[in-house]
Amino acid sequence: MAAILLAGGAGYIGSHTAVELLNAGYAVIVADNYANSSPEAIRRVEEITGKQVKLYEADIRDDKKLLEIFRENQIDAVIHFAGLKAVGESVAKPVMYYRNNIDTTLSLLEAMQETGVKNIIFSSSATVYGEENSVPYTEEMKRGVCTNPYGWTKAMTEQIFEDAAKADPSLSVVLLRYFNPIGAHPSGRIGEDPRGIPNNLMPYVTQVAVGKRECLTIFGHDYPTKDGTCTRDYIHVVDLAKGHVKAVDYVLRHNGTEIFNLGTGTPYSVKEIVESFERVNAIKLNHVYGNRRLGDLAEFYANADKAERLLGWKTEKTLDDMCRDAWNWQKQNPDGYRKSN
Ligand code: NAD
Ligand code: WQD
Repeated sequence: MAAILLAGGAGYIGSHTAVELLNAGYAVIVADNYANSSPEAIRRVEEITGKQVKLYEADIRDDKKLLEIFRENQIDAVIHFAGLKAVGESVAKPVMYYRNNIDTTLSLLEAMQETGVKNIIFSSSATVYGEENSVPYTEEMKRGVCTNPYGWTKAMTEQIFEDAAKADPSLSVVLLRYFNPIGAHPSGRIGEDPRGIPNNLMPYVTQVAVGKRECLTIFGHDYPTKDGTCTRDYIHVVDLAKGHVKAVDYVLRHNGTEIFNLGTGTPYSVKEIVESFERVNAIKLNHVYGNRRLGDLAEFYANADKAERLLGWKTEKTLDDMCRDAWNWQKQNPDGYRKSN
């Protein structure tokens, strides 16, 4: 049974990936400093799967601790989720973002070099396509000019991995460019648990629905899109997690660097999200139309053909599934993991 180290694995995408890896028969080791998560998520991963996770509280930048983890375990591949991800915060605190997101990468690569681990998957983002590329995005497009420090950390990290794989031909790197992950595990036991006011659309929607926030503001209604609101490639987090299982199978059998978009290939608008959420959950969502948000693109979505062709992966869940599961998680856990039930 191959063992996979999930750096930052207690977070939103990491915890869902842990479930799918355990279900697929992999051993899972998680290292996280809980900068944006809680060990409770991993307890619930164990509850859902009936399997154990080896859990370390560790900052990935702590080289000594990281090396201990690599030496204590026979690690076959690493998935690097460990990063700060709030776009607005990255503009206000760029040094903190570069320090965390780049140093975690360098520490992982050094520990891998030291212990002979050759396989790594990185959580990149559609944001690296920048503003210049036209939709749908395909993997061979050049990385664009990013609009914020968070985006630059993803673009720079991709470059670091590409250089490392060029220098060491035995290294195997998979760069996964996620589009807009939303939803939660259908059990409602794990999900997205943002701290403070949510930056992203779906947690804002669910917090309005549960009565924690007054009203959703839809940012802009005069975009050149099907209904005037922005469109995005929303992807169910369980589909995304299953994409990681396929990426692990792939990274273990190849060398060099490969990039994959993980998206559905179908854009939906903010208005369609609100409509689907209201319909499938039989809830009225308090919302108003407001100004555009600075830095938002009118639309972006994936061409997801490469992942289907090379990984044998494509999404299965619908927008209604995403809206239903997001609400199921929020209503069962109005305060996220802080008040466990
Ligand atoms: P998340 O914040 O829920 O998970 C990130 C995890 O990394 C958290 O558990 C956090 O505590 C941990 N972490 C951060 N810095 C660390 C450090 N120095 N040492 C140890 N642990 C550390 O975010 P997520 O949504 O699960 O995202 C996972 C990854 O995917 C991130 O790198 C993010 O940038 C990337 N990504 C996310 C999205 C999205 O919309 N959610 C989209 C594209 C890319
Ligand atoms: C989605 C849509 C908003 C909140 C971000 C990052 C990107 C990636 C995914 C990490 C947009 C609209 C939102 C609200 C709204 N993350 N919206 N009212 O901006 O597409 O992407 O997360 O890599 O890098 O930039 O996601 O969820 O913030 O917004 O109308 O209160 O919802 O304008 O059209 P975004 P989002």
